[in-house]
Parts: sequence; structure tokens; C-alpha cells
Amino acid sequence: MITVERLTRKYGAFTAVDDISFVCQPGRVTGFLGPNGAGKTTTMRVMVGLTPATAGSVTIGGHHYHDIPNPGRHVGVLLDASAQHGGRTGREVLELGALSMGLPKTRVDEMLEMVSLTQAEAKRRIRNYSLGMKQRLGIAHALLGDPSVLILDEPANGLDPAGIRWMRGLLKGYAERGGTVLLSSHLLHEVEQIADEMILIGNGRIVAQGDKKSLLANAATGGVHSFATSLDNEALAAALTAKGVTVTSAGDGLRVDAETVEVGRTALEAGVVLTDLRNGEGGLEDLFLELTAETQRETVA
Ligand SMILES: Nc1ncnc2c1ncn2[C@@H]1O[C@H](COP(=O)(O)OP(=O)(O)O)[C@@H](O)[C@H]1O
Ligand SMILES: [Mg+2]
Repeated sequence: MITVERLTRKYGAFTAVDDISFVCQPGRVTGFLGPNGAGKTTTMRVMVGLTPATAGSVTIGGHHYHDIPNPGRHVGVLLDASAQHGGRTGREVLELGALSMGLPKTRVDEMLEMVSLTQAEAKRRIRNYSLGMKQRLGIAHALLGDPSVLILDEPANGLDPAGIRWMRGLLKGYAERGGTVLLSSHLLHEVEQIADEMILIGNGRIVAQGDKKSLLANAATGGVHSFATSLDNEALAAALTAKGVTVTSAGDGLRVDAETVEVGRTALEAGVVLTDLRNGEGGLEDLFLELTAETQRETVA
């Protein structure tokens, strides 16, 4: 478990992280979401003792990172995948990690296989790696010591779509086995599919937190809506309007101010064949943009 308590980090007169508190629970993937410059990396650097806090504290499993003996066995960290010596090969980086954590060399091959880096790629120097390959190596390094807590800063950066899907499965499985995962991103779509819990940060402050459902429920904007297309939109619209539901046309279908189940039921009753029925997109995205709009640095003088 990661506990952040009233954490503040100032750089001179500038406050990068402003009195934030949250908890990351075991068995859950916690997404740390915010626009560029929101304070995500700073928070994570404080977590692992790379940057001192100005005020407040972070503990991992009740301890400060500094006080954890052999921390790699407990906390896997990936902050900047490029922050490796470019002249080392991928294999060397993992072997050094295994050595310092007191792990057998066989663990290196296991990890390479897990992140789908081939033996040939592992022999290349990191300066010749693509960003995605560096991320894979970084994830392998973070998991090397079989830690129970993972702290990953923008791990999906540079991964291809298949890689992002792979990582999603990996982190979900890791959390299902009881691990604690904190991962940051500036992209909502990346996080919303992986995260059980979300922390939204803007301008150094937490602007919302909770699971996806409760975040959406708390969002005053938009309201519940769906998009439906059918073989007879007119009949469907009439049946919905008769129930007092607001319907507007949208593209070649309808925008309906009701949940999909309600639309499906009405179509069934009216004997109309649905060809497409979806939840209204953008609820969470609107929320994210709205919550962070006021805190976008671009608008700050
Ligand atoms: N060493 C530093 N000195 C001064 N300002 C910094 C330093 N590190 C980060 N910042 C500032 O703190 C803010 C938050 O940065 P960061 O935590 O990297 O944001 P994020 O990771 O969410 O994009 C930014 O405005 C950044 O410029
Ligand atoms: Mg960052």
C-alpha cells in the first residue's frame, strides 16, 4: 500500500505539488492522471526518495522508501525509461539489477521473455533501442525483484497498440494477484481501461479521485446518454419520445438521453431492429478536460 499524506513539493516560489493526499490499495491498479506539468513525475520521484518533499510524506507499506532494505524486492520503479546508460545492453542492465538484488541470473531470461525482448535485442546497446523497447526493458527491470508494489511513470509512452494491450493485461494480472500498482499517464484512454481507481491531478492539486463509476456519477456535466442506430430510426425515436425520453438525431442515428438498456427495451417493445447501440462517449473525457482546464498551465499567466 502506498500512502501519500499532505505532500507538497516546491521549487523556489513555484509549487509543483500542492498538499496532495491519496492511498493506493493492494489488489488495485491506481491511475494517476493529469496534463503535462501537473506534478505526476514529481510526486513519484518523492515516493522513491529521488526528490525530497517540502512538506508531508509518502510511505510504502508503512515505510519510507529510504528505509526499505533491498527496495527492488519490494517496490518496482520505472520513472524514466531513457535514464539508463546508453552504452549498456539491455541484458547488462537486467544482470546488474539481478546482481544488486541478489537474484539468480535465470531471472533475467524470464524477464526478457515476459516483456517480449528477444535475445538478439537484449544484446544491443540501449542507445539503439526505440522508446517502446526501453519501456519494455524498464518494465522488466521494475518486475525483476518480484516486488509487491509497482510505481510506473507513463509506462505506455512509446509502446505500440499491441504493447499497450499487453501491458494492460500484465498490470491487471499483477494487481489480481494482490500487487499494488500506481501508474501515471496524461492520456485518459490509457488509464481508464487499466485503472480500478483514478486520481486526477492538475496544477499540483488533486481535482478528483475515486473509481470510474463514482467519478462519472459525481460529474454534473453531460448526463447519461446513448447513441442508437436502427433499421427504423423514426419509429424508435417516436417510441422513445412517447416515454418522455429526449431524442435528437446524430449522424445516421439518434442521440438518446437514456441508458442503453432503456433504449434496447424500447426498441424491443416497438419491434425495431437495432444495428448499433452504445454508451455516450466522452463522459469521462469531458470530466477530465473540465476538471483540468482551469489548471492547465497554458492559461496561467
Ligand atoms: N527540478 C525542477 N525544478 C523546477 N521546476 C520543476 C522541477 N521538476 C519539475 N518542475 C516543475 O514542476 C511541474 C510539475 O512537473 P512534473 O511533475 O514533471 O509534471 P508531470 O509529470 O505531471 O508532467 C512542472 O511545471 C515542472 O516544470
Ligand atoms: Mg511526467
